[in-house]
Amino acid sequence: MLPTRFPETLLENAPANATCPQPALLDLLARRRSTKIAQLTGPGPDRAVIEGLLGLAARTPDHGKLAPWRFLALLGEGRARAGACLAEVLAQRQAGDEALAAERQRFLRAPAVIGVISTAAPHAKIPEWEQLLSAGAVCFNLLLAAHGAGYAGCWLTEWPVYDAQARAALGLAAHERIAGFIYLGSASEVPLERPRPDSRALTSWF
Ligand SMILES: Cc1cc2nc3c(=O)[nH]c(=O)nc-3n(C[C@H](O)[C@H](O)[C@H](O)COP(=O)(O)O)c2cc1C
Repeated sequence: MLPTRFPETLLENAPANATCPQPALLDLLARRRSTKIAQLTGPGPDRAVIEGLLGLAARTPDHGKLAPWRFLALLGEGRARAGACLAEVLAQRQAGDEALAAERQRFLRAPAVIGVISTAAPHAKIPEWEQLLSAGAVCFNLLLAAHGAGYAGCWLTEWPVYDAQARAALGLAAHERIAGFIYLGSASEVPLERPRPDSRALTSWF
């Protein structure tokens, strides 16, 4: 386990730092990479560290202060229990033994997995689109926080995200969606840079 010191939580109306020049943060953004799921291993964050990471992840822009998301934290045996729930869904579809065994292993591929669940719903003022975007931002904020705490990770969706029965098996309400599963651990190999888009080619200036 890596020693992790989380900054103190800001109380409401305490002066927040809108800007805070941080070369280390820019380096992180310039160099960070997701780690392939097959290369995620221990150590991973324990419950106390995960709670710190989720506290940071929840400091995400969110129009209307709705917090239109919640977390499903899969840790220890909980990862196997969640995988068993998905395997039950597949068993009803006559999946073979191999597929069922793989399903039971799904969340055991990393030491910790956080499902970021969008709870977006119709609202008088805040479009659902914006609520969904906020859930995506939470995913990335969580990944960045984990990297800043020294953990590797990746953001995956895969079939359960797109399957209503699988979502129900994981305890989601009918209107809830999974923005992503953030798998967290340590990298068994240094990830190599991948091709990146040329932001200049993607930018129009007015
Ligand atoms: C919403 C979302 C879902 C993703 N789902 C998957 C997935 O299911 N499987 C996968 O291999 N990569 C998936 N990715 C891509 C990886 O998370 C990662 O972004 C990509 O491999 C390269 O990433 P990097 O720029 O973070 O290094 C997803 C990315 C996003 C944003």
